[in-house]
Amino acid sequence: MSLDDLQIDRLRRRRGEKWRTYPDDVLPAWVADMDFPLAPPLQDYLRELTQTTDLGYPINPRPDALPRVFADRMHERFGWAIDPRDVLVLTDVVQGMYLALWTLTEQGDGVVVQTPVYPPFLACVADVGRRRVDNPLPRGPERHEIDLDALREAADVHTRALLLCNPQNPTGRALERDELEALAQLAIERDWIVVSDEIHCDLVYPGHRHVPLATLGPEIAERTITLMSASKAFNIAGTRCALAHFGSDRLRKRFEALPRHLRGGLGTVGLAATEIAWTRCQPWLDEVVTYLDGSRRHLAQRVARDLPGISMQLPEATYLAWLDCRELGLDDPWRLFYQQGRVALSAGPAFGPGGEGFVRLNFATSRGLLDEVVDRMAGALARR
Ligand SMILES: Cc1ncc(COP(=O)(O)O)c(C=O)c1O
Repeated sequence: MSLDDLQIDRLRRRRGEKWRTYPDDVLPAWVADMDFPLAPPLQDYLRELTQTTDLGYPINPRPDALPRVFADRMHERFGWAIDPRDVLVLTDVVQGMYLALWTLTEQGDGVVVQTPVYPPFLACVADVGRRRVDNPLPRGPERHEIDLDALREAADVHTRALLLCNPQNPTGRALERDELEALAQLAIERDWIVVSDEIHCDLVYPGHRHVPLATLGPEIAERTITLMSASKAFNIAGTRCALAHFGSDRLRKRFEALPRHLRGGLGTVGLAATEIAWTRCQPWLDEVVTYLDGSRRHLAQRVARDLPGISMQLPEATYLAWLDCRELGLDDPWRLFYQQGRVALSAGPAFGPGGEGFVRLNFATSRGLLDEVVDRMAGALARR
């Protein structure tokens, strides 16, 4: 597979939002999809599908089907032993987040979010009528850090839940065990439910490790819902499938009390693609992560050399770079790069407090296209 050899006219024929939202002269480096071709086993499956026409109603996954595949994978990759009967299959991770807050907290309850964060975290708390308790992650010299003292202070007795994003989008942090232990300790002391979105768990770079929150001990596990999906790492977000693990029956029963059809049905292609990704596509993913590891370093060098006034810390995970443009003193750096550079990034303020003056750049493309994104940004800076 050549990840270097992407044809822009083929990418422009894609129907998804990454390539269809902006005009054709704009290079998209925003929404978290990758430009790489699908893993060969997934390509084979989709080709076969045209022969078998296997698009009738899927069987609702039994514990010994996709949940078992998920449990095996969690055990193999992270040493996390789970019972497939504690796993539900959902349509997507964001759905899991909404449903968890809806079923497990009450109107007006406080919910902690660590900003900047993937924008649906912010929308979710507001949409279900909960109260956002912000715990900004300040930028330290090497990486963004959790400010536990600020969290202790911000959370009051009506705070009932923590929405955790680990690995973190957009800062690229892969939280370390001791950071997670400190958070877990606080969640236990304050009797919070934790919704732990670990969708980026397979996109962690050498030198870092993903630690599922629920592996830290029974006390934190029993209050944690872990949300996972193959969609980020295997680039199949359009097939729609995610899994939720419940650390206790108490949580699962409350979640399941919501009528099944309010959750929506599952799709044949999403179920099959997730299983194929997790069982047959690891060699593809290993190659992609190695390539992305090179790209994050390449991007950091180019930012340091060619984008004066912008700084970037190496992401520990994810294919997203969180670029600090505050030194430029611009009201809206996103607009400069869009209007002058014809590059579509993600605007920092959408990620909540701490996002002002930042842009997020998706580097999951060929090195050639990535260079073009940086060249265009450099041109925009020169023309300003
Ligand atoms: C942290 C995080 N959670 C969830 C999602 C979306 O997941 P889904 O499409 O399964 O809702 C993304 C997508 O980029 C993400 O970065």
